[in-house]
Amino acid sequence: MKNATELAADQAAFWNGPGGAAWLASQERIERGIAWFGEQALAAAAPQLGERVLDIGCGTGGTTAALAAAVGASGHVLGVDISEPLVAASRARQIANASFECADAATQPFEAESFDLMFSRFGVMFFGDPVTAFKNLRRALKPSGRLVFVCWRMPQENPWGLVPFKAAAPFLPPVERPGPEDPGQYSFGDRARVERILKGAGFGTPTFEPLDRPMRLGQDMAETLDNAGKFGPLARLFAETSPANVAKAKEAIAAALKPHVTPDGVQLAGACWLVRVGRN
Ligand SMILES: C[S@@+](CC[C@H](N)C(=O)[O-])C[C@H]1O[C@@H](n2cnc3c(N)ncnc32)[C@H](O)[C@@H]1O
Repeated sequence: MKNATELAADQAAFWNGPGGAAWLASQERIERGIAWFGEQALAAAAPQLGERVLDIGCGTGGTTAALAAAVGASGHVLGVDISEPLVAASRARQIANASFECADAATQPFEAESFDLMFSRFGVMFFGDPVTAFKNLRRALKPSGRLVFVCWRMPQENPWGLVPFKAAAPFLPPVERPGPEDPGQYSFGDRARVERILKGAGFGTPTFEPLDRPMRLGQDMAETLDNAGKFGPLARLFAETSPANVAKAKEAIAAALKPHVTPDGVQLAGACWLVRVGRN
């Protein structure tokens, strides 16, 4: 079993390597796919003029830009991300009242009690030692401050990811199932675990609001299969698989997704938690 340092190193290598590159290559499509969830979280966070905000795991800065617009010229947003290429893309936005740091949010020595709001769209599920990471973040939140983030619920509630993955699995190299405490896309799916982590870090009692929205995998099956090879767990496995087996995997995905073809593209349910908590 890997320790927290090794898990953090794996995440840094992934987001600075293939994960960051794939995210950048599909940036616009990914952004469209997750925009609604981020908008709900932004509305719940209700950033105010003049506030100081931290955008955790800011990626290419889409939510940082929205937060910066909301806090206005008298406010400021710091976007922090562990991935150099994604931070470079954020900086290229040249947002007057935002700055970006390439750093591990789990350990970065932020100024104590300096943020009114900490925000994240899908950027807080990757800490090797989440309790220690959230302790570090809480230290930097003002006593009156709030933390608002959106994260995926369990894989079974997210068939947009699970259905194609299960269909393709027999033709792809075996993957180790992540342990219940391991970082990853669905690691905050269990709300009891999230509550335990936040309370363990000293936060108050969080509230959890389910956010449900279909995810559009592509405008038709051909685009969906093409997209599957570009970003996400399948793309990673396709890269390690023979072309013949990738073709078989794609056939199986097409069969499994056939019932989900709609006039508005290939769509399956997506499910997130909107989590809000005070510093305590
Ligand atoms: C799923 S992406 C979300 C990006 C962005 N929030 C968005 O919604 O477009 C997760 C992001 O978290 C970043 N990340 C992962 N672990 C991190 C850490 N320990 N500190 C800072 N950023 C981290 C990754 O580099 C990646 O950009």
